[in-house]
Amino acid sequence: LAHLNKAFIHFLNGTSSDHSPDVLQLVTSLFTNVIKALYPDQEDFVVSVTPSTHEKYGDYQCNSAMNLSQALKKTQPKVSPREVAEKIVKNLPSSPYVDKVELAGPGFINLFLSKQFISKLISLIVKNGVKPPHIPKKKKVVIDMSSPNIAKEMHVGHLRSTIIGESIARLYQFVGHNVLKLNHLGDWGTQFGMLIANLSEKFPNYLTVSPPIGDLQAFYKESKARFDNDEEFKKRAYAAVVQLQSYEPNTTKAWNLICDESRKEFMKIYKHFDIEDLVDRGESFYQPLMPAVVEELEKLNMLELDEGRKICWPPGAQVPLTIVKSDGGMTYDTSDMAALKHRLVEEKAEEILYVVDSGQAIHLNGVFDAGAKAGWFDPAKIRVEHIGFGVVLGEDKKKFKTRSGDTVRLMDLLEEGLKRAGQKLIDKGRDKVLTNEELSLAKEAVAYGCIKYADLSHCRTNDYVFSFDKMLDDKGNTAVYLQYAYMRIRSISRLTTLTPEDLANHGPPSLEHPKEWKLAKHVCRFAEIINRCLVDLYLHNLCDYLYELATTFTEFYDACYVVEKDRNTGEVIKINVDRLVLCEAVARVIKMGFHILGINTVEKM
Ligand code: ARG
Repeated sequence: LAHLNKAFIHFLNGTSSDHSPDVLQLVTSLFTNVIKALYPDQEDFVVSVTPSTHEKYGDYQCNSAMNLSQALKKTQPKVSPREVAEKIVKNLPSSPYVDKVELAGPGFINLFLSKQFISKLISLIVKNGVKPPHIPKKKKVVIDMSSPNIAKEMHVGHLRSTIIGESIARLYQFVGHNVLKLNHLGDWGTQFGMLIANLSEKFPNYLTVSPPIGDLQAFYKESKARFDNDEEFKKRAYAAVVQLQSYEPNTTKAWNLICDESRKEFMKIYKHFDIEDLVDRGESFYQPLMPAVVEELEKLNMLELDEGRKICWPPGAQVPLTIVKSDGGMTYDTSDMAALKHRLVEEKAEEILYVVDSGQAIHLNGVFDAGAKAGWFDPAKIRVEHIGFGVVLGEDKKKFKTRSGDTVRLMDLLEEGLKRAGQKLIDKGRDKVLTNEELSLAKEAVAYGCIKYADLSHCRTNDYVFSFDKMLDDKGNTAVYLQYAYMRIRSISRLTTLTPEDLANHGPPSLEHPKEWKLAKHVCRFAEIINRCLVDLYLHNLCDYLYELATTFTEFYDACYVVEKDRNTGEVIKINVDRLVLCEAVARVIKMGFHILGINTVEKM
C-alpha cells in the first residue's frame, strides 16, 4: 500500500498527472497502516472500509473495530469495540485528505474528507482530463468476445457478448492494459461440409459467389434437414467434410466465400456499434494446432477411452470434455483447448476473459481446468475467466422472438431502434431546432447508445428484458436521461465565453454550498468505481454511478445558479466560475464513463 500513498503525494504535488487516486483505497490504507501498527499479531486481519450510507456518517466508514475486538478476545482480556475504535482514532495520523474522524455508536469510525483535497481533485480533472486509477501491473489481456457463427445471422446473445466485451476492453484500455480482442467465430465443423455439399447441388455459382446472408441461413437449415433424412446426401456431405478438412481447393474456395459473406454482415453491426480492432480468429484457425494438443494430453495421461471417443475429465468436473470423437474428428472442446494454449503460449496473455453466454459455463470451465491441469498456466497467477451473461427476454418475459416466433434479426432490431429514436426526437420537436445532420447523429447516438446502456446497466448474469419503451425513456436510469444531463451541462458552458483553458487555469473551486460539496465528492469516486469494475467486471456499477452522478448534478443545479441571466433581456449578468469548473468536471466524467460503456455523448440533441 505504500505505493498508493506515494502515488497520491506525487499527485497532490502535481508531478504525476497520469492517475487519479482511488479515495476508498487511500482511506483503507490509512486505516490498515494504523491497525497493523497497533495490532501486529493480527496479520491476516482484513480492514474493511466502505463508503458511508448517509451524510451524517461522513464519507467513509471503517467498521473493523467490531471484528478486531472479536479477534483479540482469543489472545488477551476482553476489549470492547468502542475501546478498539478509540485507540485507532487516537493513532490515526493527520492526512491531507482527511478533515475529521468521528466515533459513533458501539465502535463505528466515520471519516470526513477534506474540502481542499476534493477541490484539488476537481481542478485536476478540469486541467488534465479524467485519469484512471493506478494499477499495479499493465498486462497483455485477451478478450474473447462477440464470436458469432458463420452462415448464421448474429443473434441477440452475440449482441450481448459484443456490447459487454467491448465495454470491458475499453475499461482495460483506459487503465493501461494491452488488450487483444478476439472474435472466436464459429467457422468450422461438420455443418460446413453439409452446407457446401448442399450448395454444390442447389446453388451452381457456389464457387464464385456466396448466397446472400439471408439465403445462406436457409441453405444451412436445408442442408441439415437433408443430412438427417437422405442417406445418399449424408455420404456426400461427409465427403465434403473430409475435403474441407484436407483443404481441398474448391471446397476451401466455397468455404471462404461463405465466410466473407457472413463477415460482411457482422461488420455492419460492428460499424454501427463502434467496435474497432476486433481480430477475426475463428475455430478454423486452431485446426492445425489441435493434433499437437491431443498428443500432449495423451502424453500427460489426461485422456481416457470411452466407447471409441477420447475424453478428458477436468478436475472435479461432472461432464468430460470430448477431445477426439469416435470417427477421429475433433470438437468444440478440442478447438477451445487449442485456443487456450495458443493464447497463453503464443500470445503470452497474462489474463484471458471469455465473454460468452452463461449456458457455456460448463464447457469453458472444463477447458480452463483441463488447461491448468496440463500445466499451461497457474490460476493463482493468471486470470482465465468466463464472463457469463444471461439470456435476452422479450417483454412477455419469454425468450426474445419475433411475433411469428422466429429469432429476431439484429439488423431489423437496429432499424427499429433508429426509427423509434427518430420518432422520439420528432415528438419532442427536435427536428425544428436541429439541422438534418445533427438530427441524424442524435438519432444514431440515442438508438445505439440506448441498446448498449440497457444491456450494460443490468447485472450481466441476470436475464434481461429487451424493451425499446424502457430504454428510450428519458426518466430513470437510461442512456437518454444521462445524455440530457450531459447536454444540459454543455449548454450551460455555451452561455459563457470562457474557454476550456480559462476553466483549467481557474484553480480549485470553493465548493461552499452543500450541494456543490456533495456533487464534487461523487465526481471523485470515479476511480474507486473503475477499480471495482476491474475486479468483478460488473459494468452496471459504472452505470449506477453515472446515474447517481446525473441525479446529484440535477440536485445541485436546482439549488445553485451557475450562470445568472437577466430575466427580461436574457443577457448573462453573473457567472459563478467555481461552479462552472465543477460542471466541467462532471461533464468530463460522464463523457469518460460513456466512452467506457461504448457510448458517444452528443453535444446537441
Ligand atoms: N461461437 C460460439 C457461439 O455462438 C461462441 C464462442 C465463444 N468463445 C469460445 N472461445 N468458445 O455459441
